[in-house]
Amino acid sequence: MLKRYLFGSLGLMMFIFSGVVSSQSVEKAIKYRQGAFAVMGWNFGAIVDMIKGKRPFDQEDFARRAKIISDVSLIPLEGFVANSFEGPTKSKAEIWTNFADFEVKLKQMQEAASHLSTVSLSGDYDASKKAAIKLGKTCKSCHDEYRNK
Ligand code: HEC
Repeated sequence: MLKRYLFGSLGLMMFIFSGVVSSQSVEKAIKYRQGAFAVMGWNFGAIVDMIKGKRPFDQEDFARRAKIISDVSLIPLEGFVANSFEGPTKSKAEIWTNFADFEVKLKQMQEAASHLSTVSLSGDYDASKKAAIKLGKTCKSCHDEYRNK
């Protein structure tokens, strides 16, 4: 009887404890993906300013930022842990009901970012501008569908 009670409460404690741990790691995962997107947004914003003429076009700086975006574009996926659409997040629940499509959109963004990074090294302004616009479309297409306003 006592044994059963002890094991029972140990089981309960482990259950509660693991619940606490996993909700903490869900919040960390949300922060992780948001942090990656924040880095991408920061650098893409500077690139957009350059192609809009709001900031002088500096090929080296442009290429450096494009490389950061391309590298960091590989990061967010890991932060989209199972059903993490509650709490401090703008991710829509639809991500997890259409995960394969979400991954396709991520992949399209990664390819566009990698292309921008390569093209920007050539110093060809027009091609860089075109590649940046193409990348921006991949961001928007996912946000329109999978991110809350
Ligand atoms: C495959 C989908 C997808 C693609 C592609 C995508 N995003 Fe996002 N983005 C999201 C989702 C979902 C969120 C919301 C994350 C959250 O709050 O959990 C987000 C959030 C953000 C945020 C807010 C981060 C914060 O501080 O909370 C920025 C900035 C951002 N994205 C920039 C970009 C840029 C720039 C690109 C393209 C270079 C891009 N995203 C491409 C899905 C995407």
